[in-house]
Formats: sequence, C-alpha cells, structure tokens
Amino acid sequence: MFVRCGRPVSWNVAMLTILITAPAAHAADSRAESLGLIPQPAQLEFRDGDWAFDRTSRIVARGVAETAANTLAEALSALLGWPVRVVNEAAQAGDIEMRLTPADARFGAEGYHLAITTRTAVIHAGTDAGLFYGGVTLRQLLSPQPPASGGAADAIRLPCLEIEDAPRFPWRGLLLDPARHFLPLPDLKKFVDVMALHKLNMLQLHLTDDQGWRLEIEQYPRLTEIGSQRKESPQPRNRDRGDGTPYGPFFYTQAEMRELVAYAQARHITLLPEIEMPGHFRAALAAYPVFSCTGGPFEVSTRWGVYPDILCAGNDDAVSFVCDVLAEVVSVFPSRFIHIGGDEAPRDRWKACTRCQARMKAEGLTNEAELQTWFNHRMEVALARHGRRLIGWDEILEGGLTPGAAVMSWRGMAGGLAAARAGHDVVMAPTSHCYFDYAQARGPDEPECIGGFIPLETVYGFEPVPAELAIDRQPHILGVQGNLWSEYLWNLRDVEYFAFPRASALAEVAWSPVPARDFASFQRRLERHLQRLGRLGVNYRHPTVGQGVSR
Ligand code: ACM
Ligand code: ZN
Repeated sequence: MFVRCGRPVSWNVAMLTILITAPAAHAADSRAESLGLIPQPAQLEFRDGDWAFDRTSRIVARGVAETAANTLAEALSALLGWPVRVVNEAAQAGDIEMRLTPADARFGAEGYHLAITTRTAVIHAGTDAGLFYGGVTLRQLLSPQPPASGGAADAIRLPCLEIEDAPRFPWRGLLLDPARHFLPLPDLKKFVDVMALHKLNMLQLHLTDDQGWRLEIEQYPRLTEIGSQRKESPQPRNRDRGDGTPYGPFFYTQAEMRELVAYAQARHITLLPEIEMPGHFRAALAAYPVFSCTGGPFEVSTRWGVYPDILCAGNDDAVSFVCDVLAEVVSVFPSRFIHIGGDEAPRDRWKACTRCQARMKAEGLTNEAELQTWFNHRMEVALARHGRRLIGWDEILEGGLTPGAAVMSWRGMAGGLAAARAGHDVVMAPTSHCYFDYAQARGPDEPECIGGFIPLETVYGFEPVPAELAIDRQPHILGVQGNLWSEYLWNLRDVEYFAFPRASALAEVAWSPVPARDFASFQRRLERHLQRLGRLGVNYRHPTVGQGVSR
C-alpha cells in the first residue's frame, strides 16, 4: 500500500468547518476566491497587512532546500520575466524563505506550510515534494500579473496569510495516449509543466496499442521499425473510412524517455509506463506475428476499436518476449508501478488455440479468464524481480486478481470497490467522471470526439471513495486519474482542449479535503486560473461561452 501522508486529517477538517461556519466566512471566502488558487488548499487564513515581492526579492534556501529553491527560482523567473536569485544568507524584506526540516513529520509526505507576513513569505515542509507544492501555491499567487515593464518598481503585493496544506490522495493522475496520436517530447514536457501547476503527480503514458508501438525496445527493434507506423488513420468526422495518409514512424527512444523521467521528477511527477498486454497488441504482433495464436500476418491497425488477435498465452516464447520488454521498460522508468493494460482482450483466439488450451490443462485452469490471470501472475512475478508492482485495468479482476496487483477501475466503480474490499490498491478512473476524451459540452462548436458527455461539474462532483467501502479499506483508494484517450485528439492542442479545465477540477477532487470543495467557488476561482493557463499557451476550453477558445 502507498503510504498516506501522516497529516492529522481531522484537524484540517475541523479548522475548515470553523472557517466555513464562522459569521465572517462569506467575506473571507470571496477574498480567498479572488486569489484563484486551484486546487483549494486545505486551510487558508488571512492575516493583517500585505507583502511586496519585487525585483530585489530573492529566495533564501535554508537547510537542504536548495533543490526546491532552484526549481521555484526557475519557475518564477519564467513567470515574471526577471531573474530570481537563490541565496544562502539572512532573509531581507521581500524575500521568499524555504525551510526543509526532514525530521518534522507534521507536514506528511507532500504537505507544506506557507506564511506570508509583511516581511517575507516562508515555505516550510518536511520533504522536497512539500516545498515544491508550497512553491506552486506561491507561483499561483504571484500569477497572473501584468507584463513586467522594467525597473525595480514592479512590486507584486499579496495579502498576508497562512496556508496549511496537504493532499487528500497520493495518486493524482492523468493519462496520455501517444499510441493513437503521437505527442513529441516538447509537447509532453509542456503537459508535465501544466500538470505540476495543478499539483498533479502521476502521468500514465499509454505507449502501445493496436495502432502503434511508441517505445524503443533494444532487444526487439522490429517493434518500432514495423510497429511505430500505420498505413493510414481514420478520416476526421468519417471514422469508418481511411484518410489514405501514412502515419509514422513515431516513437520515443529510451534516451528521450529518460530525459522526460528526469524532467517530470524535478516537478514531482512520476511517469507510469503502460505496455498493453495481452490485448490491444496488434502493433507488436505486426512486428512479431509468431507471438500470436494464429501466426498472422498482421498489420498495424488503421481503425480504432478492439481486435481479436492478442498475445498467445500458451507460447513460452511469447511470455518471455513480454518479460524481456518489461525488463527494458523498468530500466527506463523508475516508477514503483508498471501498468500492463489488461483491458479489452477478447479471449476467442485463446479458446481456439491448441497451445493456450494445453496451458490451461497443464495449469488446471477452467476458463480463459483464469488463463489471463495466470498470465498476469507471470508478469507480476517478473516485475517483482525488478522490485516493481503490477497495475492493470479492472478486467484483471475477471479471472481472480493476482496477489499484489493494483487495479485501475474504469468500467465504473464496482471493480475498484471489489478490489479495495479484497485489500488491493485502487486508482479510480471511471468512464462516468474521468474520461476526458468524452464531450464536455453539447453543440455544433464542439470538436469530434469518441462520444459520451462529461461536463466540468460532473468531474468536480466526483467522489472517489465509494460510500459502501469500510473505513479500514478506504486507504486502498490511492486516488484518481483522468484519461485522455487520443483516437480523436490529433495533437497537443486537442489534448489541452479536452483536458482543461476538467483536469483542473480533477486536481481539486484529488487534492482538497471534502469540506473545502464547492463547485460555485471553484468556478469563481477558475476565472483567474484560466488566465494562468492562457499565459502558458494552454488551449483550454472556456467553460462559460459554449464555444471554446480558438482551436
Ligand atoms: C479502457 O478505456 N479501455 C481502459
Ligand atoms: Zn494461443
């Protein structure tokens, strides 16, 4: 199980209740809303006076806080347009102080305290992550501002306040799907930056599917030679016809992914690689048909959907092949979890395959769902040899969960509920609230999408912990994830349009304590937050206009 932060939750909740029910709460609420913080901090109280940050202000790093200080300095310099220096000396008026006290358990794994006084702004935390998130809050407070006009007089004034903050969930994720439509490395870095601004911390990369294999595997070069290109793609707005245009070769080298891992780590974001198996595997089978049940031949798919040809679980060489692939994957991605997909794998080929049937007989398996569990267990053992844990879509429950598997619940909440009840870790990503490839509004101005309808308010109203789940099992709900499947998201502009501001709403679901959540308040804070996104060049969809920003 993930270690939940050690913050005394009831204390924060009690403080918030006081804030919300006190007679002056309304004025305090609207003042707090004007800051436009997203996600809403667990606790925020104003103090008298204000603080001025200007071109003479520096970041004073105390203890071992230099890493977080340098990260914040870089972000503030980019935001403000002037260089913000890091120093190790006594703080002066106007400075930001960062204090790291690792022995201090009060903040938990990711929490922080931010005190803005008339003299300085002090961020205090027990971990690098906590300092980073305090810095993100300060970045939000200092942005947006009018463009710097030169001279030392560009002071930014902030009200004195105290923020005590820590996330509700340790897993605050989004999924990108470069298998369907590739996103070049600079696009991924931009997306990571915008995630970090929301205190999101898990980015799942769906690296393989029927329509493309996007990760270099040194031992099996055909995966990218053959698997990273398709003859054509479906036509926009005419999905059953081909567009006649070859797509690819597009893939990430291992060096590029290592670079992205480091870039994301500096922003406290873990990259979670997903290698789909045994289904959604046609790009791999196009390269190595010998690992299918029928022997092929196959082409990389040119239409979206679910395909019957999957990896042959009866073939020892096929099982070794995916173990070899995972060995290279873990050498690139240091994440504790590795995602093996597991969804939408029709078992018809296994029913008709003599090798798969022989495997079932030899292992005493009574149906093909159990064969998938047998296969998952092999992957779980292989990953455990590398010190990693398996996570998969909720279909991995069907033949019985393997002992250490974590579940990503997408076909509703039931799979996640069953898994958590059985003591397994769970990430909630149901199609009802978390499928950001679905339409966010109705009407002729909305771009083509896969279908469905998930407006902003629905995302905001998501409660990831099922009411029926016993209290002692609730810590197994690690958090939430929004999925940006990219059949109809052709490039980063589309991804951003579908992601924001729904991912801003999900960030608040994932981070803020339940009593701090209020959709009307979120909408008011969002106005200012959208200006921040605009300054970063994010192609968000403005929620109030019924038609998006230019697309
Ligand atoms: C999925 O959407 N097939 C996980
Ligand atoms: Zn087979």
